[in-house]
Amino acid sequence: VKVAVIVVAAGSGTRLAAGAPKAFVPLAGSTILEHALHSVAGMRDEPHVIVVAPAELVDDARGMLSRVIGRGEVVAGGATRQASVAAGLALVGDADIVLVHDAARALTPSALFDRVVDAVAASGAGAIPGLPVSDTIKRTADGGAIVETVDRSELSAVQTPQGFPAAELIAAYASAARDVTDDAQLMADAGHPVAVVEGDPLAFKVTTLWDLRRAEELLRPASA
Ligand code: C5P
Repeated sequence: VKVAVIVVAAGSGTRLAAGAPKAFVPLAGSTILEHALHSVAGMRDEPHVIVVAPAELVDDARGMLSRVIGRGEVVAGGATRQASVAAGLALVGDADIVLVHDAARALTPSALFDRVVDAVAASGAGAIPGLPVSDTIKRTADGGAIVETVDRSELSAVQTPQGFPAAELIAAYASAARDVTDDAQLMADAGHPVAVVEGDPLAFKVTTLWDLRRAEELLRPASA
C-alpha cells in the first residue's frame, strides 16, 4: 500500500505565545516541526511526506524537511486547520492511505504511525489513536452550573496521526459542510466508519508553555 503523511504545521500557536508559529518554536535544540518529522522518518514504510506550513515559512519548512527526511513536499496552509489539511490533500497523488498529523504532537512515536497504517490497511476504514479519559467530565451551562456528568468509560481523548482510505478522505473534504477540529468528524459526516485504536501518551499536543516544558523534560538525556 502507498501511504502519504500530511503534517499540518500552519497554525499560529497563539496559546503558546512563543513569538513564532508553533511548529517553528525551538524544542531541545531543533524545532517542534523537526521533532515531528523525525517521527515520520522512523516509520516502517517510506511514506510520501507533505508538510503544510505558514506561507511565510514555506522555505524554512522545506529546509527542515530536506534535512530530516530528504524527500517530500511543502505547501502553504490556510486560515483553519481544515483549510491546511485540504491544501495538503491536493498533493497526495496516488496514495491508498492518508495519515494526517499535527506537527504540534512533536513526540509522537513512529510506532503509532505504523499502528494507524496497519489498522486502516486491515479494516479498509478510518483509524484514529485515542486514550481513555482520566478526569471526570461534566457538561456545564453558561455560568458553570453542572448539567450532567458524562460517563467517562464511553470517552476517548483522540490524537493524531489519523489515518483514512485516501479516496474517502478526499471525497469527505470535497463535500465538507462545516468547520471541524479533526478529520474523523468530516469522515463521520460523510457516513464513513472510523475506529479508535490505542493511542500513546507521548502523542500529546504542545499547546501551552507548560506542554513545551514537559516536552523539553521528556527529551532531556537521562543524567548518569
Ligand atoms: O491549534 P491546534 O493546536 O489545534 O492545531 C493543531 C495542528 O494544526 C497544529 O500542528 C497546527 O500547526 C495545525 N494548523 C494548521 N493550520 C491552521 C491551524 C492549525 O496547519 N490554520
